[in-house]
Amino acid sequence: MKISAVNNFKYSNYGFYSSVKPKQSPSFSSLKLKNDENNYSDTCFYRDADTLDCAATLLKKTFPKGTDILDFASSNGEEAISLYSLIDKSNGKYKIYCFDTSDRAVELGKKGIYTVFYPMSYDYLLLPEFSMLDDSNTREIKSKFYSVMEETKNPSYEINDINYLCQLERSPYFKIKYYKLKDEHKDKIEINKGNINNIDKVLPNKKVGAVLFRNAMYIETGNFSANEFSFNEDLNINKKEIIEKIVDKVYEKLLPGGLFILGDIEKDHVYIADNHVNDKDKLFVSDYCTFIYKNSPLWEALSKDGRFEPVLYKNVDAPLILGKEQKVPTIWRKK
Ligand SMILES: C[S@@+](CC[C@H](N)C(=O)[O-])C[C@H]1O[C@@H](n2cnc3c(N)ncnc32)[C@H](O)[C@@H]1O
Repeated sequence: MKISAVNNFKYSNYGFYSSVKPKQSPSFSSLKLKNDENNYSDTCFYRDADTLDCAATLLKKTFPKGTDILDFASSNGEEAISLYSLIDKSNGKYKIYCFDTSDRAVELGKKGIYTVFYPMSYDYLLLPEFSMLDDSNTREIKSKFYSVMEETKNPSYEINDINYLCQLERSPYFKIKYYKLKDEHKDKIEINKGNINNIDKVLPNKKVGAVLFRNAMYIETGNFSANEFSFNEDLNINKKEIIEKIVDKVYEKLLPGGLFILGDIEKDHVYIADNHVNDKDKLFVSDYCTFIYKNSPLWEALSKDGRFEPVLYKNVDAPLILGKEQKVPTIWRKK
């Protein structure tokens, strides 16, 4: 896996005015909640596996004897299980503490049974039925998954939205399986309700090797995609201030060499300008008739005073403003 450090974070250096046409990404998810519940908790196993794999490699190298990991915005825990499975467990002691603000996601995570289904999910390749499609990467990920997970029975409680599953069942190719962590790994992943803004209150007097906050900074800042913003966005929210507070606290919580791990979706990195941004700090994006922060407030907060350095750049998922081939830094290391 290529790990590179790049030190210029301005969007404008990424070919900003590319005339990328709007693309509506379908919402695939193995955690599909009911309509009246928080519908931001979508997740799946091995979402952005490149970032998780690179993080696992760096963690093993930097903390060979193990370390604590804080996974904020963990949803039901599929992300933490994926990362845990990628860390070699033979010589290290790694424990992942998961936190999410959604009661429902935490409740499901605590119950500990997960679904993998086909169609309409990213992680269906984990199903043994699809092994004829496996390339070597998928085979490797699958073997990591089955090293920590085992099949179990359909539980009596509802995991996925039943109406949604009924629709999928109409496909002649519909498949679903239920999984749980093997007993020997159960105590390595703990799921509780929690908010990243209270990270300083978690594991008091202890610093950690990694903090994850993937695909959630946009929720915390109310930052929508360029094609969504005009309908929903509250422009009175001071996004820069919110981000700076979180980054400061994450910095304090990490050990030297510790990692801050972010999502690869554009709205976690590119911010629609709110009412607190000066004109000189805005850029107009004609494709979406909207202003954005000229420089990503997230990247600025992280690189301030050289506190963090980016160690992995990923092609952006679901690009609207940045072009398809453009990259976003998903792993930052505390110097
Ligand atoms: C889109 S899901 C992402 C789940 C997972 N990180 C992933 O990338 O697959 C976003 C999750 O962030 C949670 N969330 C939003 N703001 C949060 C905060 N301040 N602290 C902890 N969790 C938060 C939501 O409840 C939701 O479950």
